[in-house]
Amino acid sequence: MLLNKELKLKNITLRNRIVMPPMAREGSSDGKVTDNLIEYYRLRAEYTGLIITEHAYVSIEGKSTPKQLSMADDSVIDGFRNLTDAIHKENCFAIAQLNHGGKERISRDWLNINSMSKEDIEKVKEDFANAAIRTKKAGFDGVEIHAAHEYLLTHFYSPLANKRSDEYGGSLENRLRLANEILQEVRASVGEDYIVAIRFGAYDYWEGGSKLEEIPIAVKSFIDSGADLIDISGGLCRSRNPYSKEPGYFKELSKIAKDASSVPVILTGGVKKARDAENLLKEGYCDLIGIGRAMIMDAEWSKKALKSLENI
Ligand SMILES: Cc1cc2nc3c(=O)[nH]c(=O)nc-3n(C[C@H](O)[C@H](O)[C@H](O)COP(=O)(O)O)c2cc1C
Repeated sequence: MLLNKELKLKNITLRNRIVMPPMAREGSSDGKVTDNLIEYYRLRAEYTGLIITEHAYVSIEGKSTPKQLSMADDSVIDGFRNLTDAIHKENCFAIAQLNHGGKERISRDWLNINSMSKEDIEKVKEDFANAAIRTKKAGFDGVEIHAAHEYLLTHFYSPLANKRSDEYGGSLENRLRLANEILQEVRASVGEDYIVAIRFGAYDYWEGGSKLEEIPIAVKSFIDSGADLIDISGGLCRSRNPYSKEPGYFKELSKIAKDASSVPVILTGGVKKARDAENLLKEGYCDLIGIGRAMIMDAEWSKKALKSLENI
């Protein structure tokens, strides 16, 4: 069985290949972790290798929904510390996903990034770096930059949304520039030992959007900028593939990423059965497998999956 095989990720060893991907469950109206939320994650940590906690906003401008978790100031650190303690007690590791929502939920105006000034961009970088430091203070094992699903960094990546004419728009290198600068600033802020991941919305599946052949170049640039883990999902299409519902429906993307990557790659999307998770690993589509909605439905998904594969 591959699903229960350990994986060395930088300076930690995950006990198996099952990842709970970031999924907004939400906290209090001021963005704090609640006791209910801690219990929800604790139950799912029991047999899971890694939990990437739901997207937390890096600044109030980047907030997407009323009860979204915040990583925007130091008052949230104690609550997150209770959450990481609970996850660690179950021998699971924890990475915090950080996000800037752009204006996705408010106006659906993709073009808002085109009016951002250099000062606005500098502030976004600083906000990610400061929020990353908070995740470390809260006891996380690492931090994930959300660059998928129609949020700010996808707007920069997708040629459908990015119409800038400065160094943040146009060429692939320019469309990747902000994500790479954020990775570099985050790395400089958290030090060499902390895990830095990126959730990469690798393909829009839309005419005129991001291209498959750009994936290897993007992945290599992220690694050069300090990424230790590549977490594959969709771009403007969000977390669903409009053309496929098969288990591992982004496997074409994760395979391209994995072939270009010197660090582990996560594939998430549509996996509900242990057998399918095992086969996707065996067929070399990814190093780790994300189990989202199936793990919301069943807190014991990991336990049952590992048991069901015991004899293979
Ligand atoms: C309720 C819900 C909330 C989600 N919130 C996030 C999030 O905060 N950040 C993120 O990157 N993806 C988020 N996603 C996407 C999931 O991480 C995952 O990619 C998606 O559900 C597909 O995987 P699945 O088929 O295993 O559920 C969310 C999905 C769901 C269902």
